[in-house]
Amino acid sequence: MKQVAGIQLMQGVKSIRDIDVEGKRVLIRVDFNVPMDDDFSISDDTRIREALPTINYCIDNGAKNITLVSHLGRPKGHTPEFSLKHILKRVERLLGKDVAFADSIESVKVLQESISTENAVILLENIRYYEGEEKNSDELSQKLGALCDVYVNDAFGTSHRAHASTYGITKYVKEKVAGLLLKKEIDSFAKALANPLKPVLLIVGGSKVSSKLSLLYNILDSIDKIIIGGAMSNTFLKARGFDMQKSLVEDDLVAEARKILDTAKEKKVKIYLPVDVVSTDDIKKHEHIKVTPAQDIPEGYMAVDIGPATTRLFGEVVRDSQTIIWNGPLGIYEIGAFSRGTFSLAHAVSDTYAFSLIGGGDTADAIDKAGERDNMSFISTGGGASLELLEGEVLPAFEVLDKKDS
Ligand code: 3PG
Repeated sequence: MKQVAGIQLMQGVKSIRDIDVEGKRVLIRVDFNVPMDDDFSISDDTRIREALPTINYCIDNGAKNITLVSHLGRPKGHTPEFSLKHILKRVERLLGKDVAFADSIESVKVLQESISTENAVILLENIRYYEGEEKNSDELSQKLGALCDVYVNDAFGTSHRAHASTYGITKYVKEKVAGLLLKKEIDSFAKALANPLKPVLLIVGGSKVSSKLSLLYNILDSIDKIIIGGAMSNTFLKARGFDMQKSLVEDDLVAEARKILDTAKEKKVKIYLPVDVVSTDDIKKHEHIKVTPAQDIPEGYMAVDIGPATTRLFGEVVRDSQTIIWNGPLGIYEIGAFSRGTFSLAHAVSDTYAFSLIGGGDTADAIDKAGERDNMSFISTGGGASLELLEGEVLPAFEVLDKKDS
């Protein structure tokens, strides 16, 4: 199976625990791409917290200095709103330690040479201010490589990107290993995909079938049942012949949806679609809301959440599962009136004894808003990265790290 081979390969990388960092300059690629409000206050610092064990490990094991490298957002050039200065205080507070800020790679060099305290921590400005980062430029990779003796990748959220700081740099560093978060993530995915307790359920939602096509095809061999919700279920319901009225439907993918339904049947994977839906004639105003069977959406209305009968049905499917993988919300959960389906299912998952693995991004946010963050077995810190992993890809950042048997 594609997933299993890929995951085993990624589990075979060396981790920071397999090497000696004492007296060495360590560069850690972290993912501090955290959401912020308009006034730059951080609304969710999970990604910073999740990087602390690796940073503390380096401090406790006598690294000479530790340079943290991250991106923030998708800046076009040197735009101040994407400066990592906005998160410096939070990093210092969570780490309980002063962190020196370096505006550039050259300043990191200066700081590394001038700070005499052992285990000094330096945070480099947004690496995406450098044009070469996303281009995986050799020149930038080499400059970054020159800053360290040991390279640690702990940026799971960015591990699907082959950028200079996640990929190219490894060509210029002798020891390159995974951080503790990277290991924790891959071990959790292994638990759900490589050696899971059965039956395995995939809950998939979100707006587009197109973004989940590869996932749906590639995961069919690893799971027993699929719940499909969110706007993407509209395309499947249309494939079953329902008139979806004004609902978001990817018309060009209706045939593909039918093919997925057929392939799943051949492989004996049971697919559950909504039997009733919550719909409205205006998402913004949402003054008129109706609950109807999925095939009876009123004229001019669009489906925006799963209905109560579906919530009960999906809840039963959840209760009968031993491993649950969830990627994508089941309705427009950001709007209170359309959040019930997603939140109810989050409560149902939290009530089981199943191993629950939650994809990052929107799914993690929805679980958080449902108040169930602490009741899931594992919530990934990567949205795009976890999706690629579920699709069976070997993530580029893992590919270039040292292997245990090397
Ligand atoms: C994320 O938020 O998913 C990661 O930090 C990666 O960000 P990117 O999609 O801008 O590469």
